[in-house]
Amino acid sequence: MKFFADTAEIADIKEMAATGLLDGVTTNPSLIAKSGRDFMEVTKEICGLTDGPVSAEVVALDHETMMKEAEVLRKIADNVCIKVPLTIDGLKTCNALTMDGTMVNVTLCFSANQALLAAKAGATFISPFVGRHDDNGSNGMDLIRDIRQIYDNYDFETEILVASVRHATHVLESALIGADVMTAPPAVIKGLFKHILTDKGIEGFLADWEKTGQSIV
Ligand code: G3P
Repeated sequence: MKFFADTAEIADIKEMAATGLLDGVTTNPSLIAKSGRDFMEVTKEICGLTDGPVSAEVVALDHETMMKEAEVLRKIADNVCIKVPLTIDGLKTCNALTMDGTMVNVTLCFSANQALLAAKAGATFISPFVGRHDDNGSNGMDLIRDIRQIYDNYDFETEILVASVRHATHVLESALIGADVMTAPPAVIKGLFKHILTDKGIEGFLADWEKTGQSIV
């Protein structure tokens, strides 16, 4: 399963890239606003930190303007992936862009039928929002299971990009279901390294090593 960082914070992206775990980055208008940076400038900088796809979202609601915005965004770098909302105009834009060889991430997916439509429109990625689905009283991971089954039934190549990931269990279940990608805030990814028994184990080994009076370097 690929790991994307769901952030526009350069320091966090650099830190994750240094671990070798960074397969791409996703941003959205809220994350850009949170960064306080210029959209074009920060997106260009992020594209230079990974060879993987960097999702940059259009903000227009009509197909024609979405295409104009996508035209500007795709000139930023070769690894820009245009993010469009799951609407009729968004999927029209998805279809036009993917026919042209541009990567497209269809976002704000909350039903398996929406995911089916996105795959039929040729989406490179579909982004079901599991955390927001849970917030709304549904089970986000059930949605991922349904989409996995539908995509496998028809051999769709669209990759399932689990988004709105809030905790380690979302990551674990995504991997068990066979999602292609998950995107999470850096804090969630950092949390995956942690285990109390790892910390305790290191502590015990180091205490015993001290007693040997030896050093390796
Ligand atoms: O990838 C989508 C994500 O940014 C939304 O996450 O936590 O705002 O639902 P959240």
